[in-house]
Amino acid sequence: MAEYSAWSEDSARLIIAGLVHLEGATLPILHALQDEFGYVDPEAVPLIAEALNLSRAEIHGAISFYHDFKTTPQPARTIKLCRAEACQALGCESVVVELARTHGIAVDGDQVGDARVETVYCLGNCALGPSALVDGELIGRVDAARIAGLCKHGRAHS
Ligand code: FES
Repeated sequence: MAEYSAWSEDSARLIIAGLVHLEGATLPILHALQDEFGYVDPEAVPLIAEALNLSRAEIHGAISFYHDFKTTPQPARTIKLCRAEACQALGCESVVVELARTHGIAVDGDQVGDARVETVYCLGNCALGPSALVDGELIGRVDAARIAGLCKHGRAHS
């Protein structure tokens, strides 16, 4: 799991200053900021614009053009829960209900602990549903308690 620094204007200024000499520095700077903080904080936009003598709109344009750039802090972990037909037949909707009722975790809702649980449609593990994907690892026959545990402790194998 990547560890990111908390947003810091001073650190951002240093990163920008270190790359400003590059030709076409906008993208390297945006990548470097995202590598450091996990996202490009909106407060970085005027700093980059000023350093590169570009408008804020140009920096915003670059950020929104490339979908890889995030503008809000991202959860350390995303747990993808399959809710397609075969997993429905194997009870994924009960998992969703129990997650909300017993653990206070809303699928496709807010981050819980270090994680956010998202809906996906078919992970190719239909026979072993309900299926989930955690940090690239496919897990089968998940139940709400396991997903809740993954939100808090974060290991697919615990
Ligand atoms: S339907 Fe859930 S893995 Fe295929």
